Amino acid sequence: MTQANRILVFDSGVGGLSILDAIKQRLSGREFVYASDNAAFPYGVKSQAFLIERVDAVLKALIKQVQPDIIVVACNTASTLVLPSIRDHFKSPVVGVVPAIKPAAEQTRSGVIGLLGTPGTVAREYTQQLINEFAGSNTVVKVGSSRLVDIAELALRGITPDSTELGKILAPLFADDRLDTIVLACTHFPLIIEDLKAASPRLVNWIDSGAAIARRVESLLGTNPRGQTDSCTTNCQAIFTKASNEVDKLQAALLNFDCHSISFLEM
Ligand code: DGL
Repeated sequence: MTQANRILVFDSGVGGLSILDAIKQRLSGREFVYASDNAAFPYGVKSQAFLIERVDAVLKALIKQVQPDIIVVACNTASTLVLPSIRDHFKSPVVGVVPAIKPAAEQTRSGVIGLLGTPGTVAREYTQQLINEFAGSNTVVKVGSSRLVDIAELALRGITPDSTELGKILAPLFADDRLDTIVLACTHFPLIIEDLKAASPRLVNWIDSGAAIARRVESLLGTNPRGQTDSCTTNCQAIFTKASNEVDKLQAALLNFDCHSISFLEM
């Protein structure tokens, strides 16, 4: 049997599982490694200098330990900052997840789009460049929330999000009656999409990056250089940067994403 491609999906916390899920749906029979830098979580409120150094160090250690064929930085907060520098010195292809402004601009009818990310992502120069390049004449309302990231982390540990609290976080987006499209610019948020929809005062179009990233990974892996298994089962292992009981609480959720083993990164 030939070896399957090994796909490394990386985030600060559990958010990248939304991207892992989309890739798994498109590419079965591959080997997946899900890595969370839980020791430095959350990224959304950290300084740019810290994140540039941290993501570089963690990815270097992961590449050594995992030897992936492709790296997916499944974190908007990191991707909007570190992609140019990490692409320079890693041999494996790197796919970043950045806010899906372009599809939102194509799909909005009212011309008012919401951008829901971490405080870091919504403040980034890179995000503003995406808006300048792709939003056209549409208005983009930005909301950055770190609390929403925590709510998604807790949801995967079995704690149901409070609808009133979600409603308050979403309120600045819905303040403009014309808003009809919301970009989920943080990979944590698709994990609680049903709760977000339930807490919204009206129906809108929610856009996340999962399917587009899965297509990109597929196109980069192309005709599998290391061969592809016939199996349609997926094998995934999870790696964390710090052991803690917060990791133990994730076991059931990780199983839902086919992650059957947990280990820790040597740095
Ligand atoms: N999941 C990450 C993102 O897409 C952010 C979470 C964090 O703040 O660490 O931006």
